[in-house]
Formats: sequence, C-alpha cells, structure tokens
Amino acid sequence: MTETTTQQFRSPLKYVGGKGTHVEHLTDTLARGRRDMIAPFTGSGAYEMALLGDGRVAPEEVTLADEDPATCQVLLELQKDPLAFIRRVERDGQRGDRRFRRHKAALDGVYAARRAARPLPLGGLDLAFSKWYVQQYSYDALGRAFAVANAPKLSTVLDRMWAAGHLLRGVTIKCQHFRETLKQPGQVYLDPPYWCCTEYPSPNQLYPVEMTRDEHRELAILLNARPGPWVLSIDDHPAVRQLYEGDPRNSLRRVRVNHNMNGKDTGKRPVVELVIARP
Ligand SMILES: C[S@@+](CC[C@H](N)C(=O)[O-])C[C@H]1O[C@@H](n2cnc3c(N)ncnc32)[C@H](O)[C@@H]1O
Repeated sequence: MTETTTQQFRSPLKYVGGKGTHVEHLTDTLARGRRDMIAPFTGSGAYEMALLGDGRVAPEEVTLADEDPATCQVLLELQKDPLAFIRRVERDGQRGDRRFRRHKAALDGVYAARRAARPLPLGGLDLAFSKWYVQQYSYDALGRAFAVANAPKLSTVLDRMWAAGHLLRGVTIKCQHFRETLKQPGQVYLDPPYWCCTEYPSPNQLYPVEMTRDEHRELAILLNARPGPWVLSIDDHPAVRQLYEGDPRNSLRRVRVNHNMNGKDTGKRPVVELVIARP
C-alpha cells in the first residue's frame, strides 16, 4: 500500500474528502509530460490547484467542473475577483451561531431549488460566501452541525483565497454533470463521491450533491469506453471493483489517506481508498 505525503497548497474552501494533503499517489499516476487536465468532480479544487501551483498542468488546458452550483460559484468568484471575496470574508466571515444558521438556510434553499429544477434563489458572491461560510464552520458539507474546532484561521483563509485567485487564472470552470464534462477529450482526474454514500438521503450522505448507484455505473461505462489517461480515486468497495476490474487496461491499487469523513468532531482518521487508473 502506498503511503501518502503532504502538498503545500490548501484550498480556502474546507471540504469533506478534500484531496489537498494526500495527492502524491495520484500525481505519480498522471501522464508525464502532459499539461492538460479535466476534473469532473472538482469540489474545493485543492488537488487541481496544487498541480497548477507546481506547474504540472497549464491553466489554459485545465477544466474544473462540479455539479454543486454553490461549490462552483466559490471557484468562479475566486477566479473573477479574489479581492472582493477576501473583503467579504474580512467583513462578515467571523464565526457566529446566528450567522451560521442564516447561511445554512440560504444554502438549503439553493439545493431545494436545484432539486426541483427551479431557478436558484441566490447567486454570485452571495451564494459563494454562504457556501464558504457553512463549509468553514461545519464538520461536514451539509452543515448538519455548527462547530469550529477544525476551522482554519481567517488570516490563513485569506492567504489561500489570494493564492487560489492567482492559480485559477485562465482555467475553465463549469457547473455541470460529469457526463457533460466527459464529452471533452483529454487527461482526466476523477474524485467522485464514495459509492458507500450513494442513494441519499442516507446517514452516510457527505455532500449536498451526491451520486446515485446508477450514476456510478454510468461513470464506469463512460470511463471503460474512454481512452486513457484517466485516474479515479474512490472508496474500496466490492461493487466498485466489479465495475472496473474486468477491463485489463485498468490498474487498481489501494492507498491510505487521512480524512474527516464522518461529520463529527473526531479529527482526521486514516481511510483506504482505491486508485483506479488507465495510462
Ligand atoms: C469527493 S468530492 C470531491 C472533493 C475534491 N477532490 C476536493 O479535494 O475537494 C465529490 C464531488 O462530486 C460532486 N458531484 C456529485 N455528483 C456529481 C455529478 N453527478 N457530476 C459532477 N459532480 C458531482 C460533489 O458536489 C462533490 O464536490
């Protein structure tokens, strides 16, 4: 099993399952000499921004996508005007129980509208800020609990925002389903929600936008039919193995990573993920 190491860059958006601190095993799997990257499940963008910062990929050849409109808006606002985001955090970003409940209610309204295919009641920097606030002061991505023990200091967040604004310059950011993103040719890095957390609402749900098992099957069909290079990291579940190990062009290996996956104040704990790659 591969041990993991630490990257320098951290995203300003705290994210369950964020890949910022355990990415060497993935970087080793990417094709040498290629500077393009498509990320259909970007989330906080920690890994992608680390690669941009290292010069491993070129901004104009990078597409970052996610189905969560609030997550995408954070990236878009950081890219468009990081200073405006920073000023908003300086003004309104201090922790507060009432503030948390207000932003959580605003986000719940956004996700309810998305599920009902209605226009979103919030957009732009307001949406991005509510998302950032709930992530910053919660142990999970759903804002189930207001908690601050593991929130990074605001001064640290502001530095990360400034860096992220710089790293995202020239990158294409899209809020869309993975099946749209995968229409684009190129090297793909995929970090979908875990198989074990599908079929929400469930006690295992980690993200406001989860995938169904049918969507996991659809993803496997698209990837198995796709020429490489691509690399996918996911939970090591027999059902996942079944989707990918039948194709001899796919390699599967287990890696150990540190996560806070359970939405409780228990800190990070090691979990094993499966890295599936096609060169
Ligand atoms: C494991 S997280 C990605 C975490 C990310 N690597 C990071 O470091 O922050 C999975 C992401 O998939 C997104 N997602 C869920 N269903 C999706 C879909 N059908 N298409 C695209 N993105 C989806 C979620 O919004 C979530 O951000």
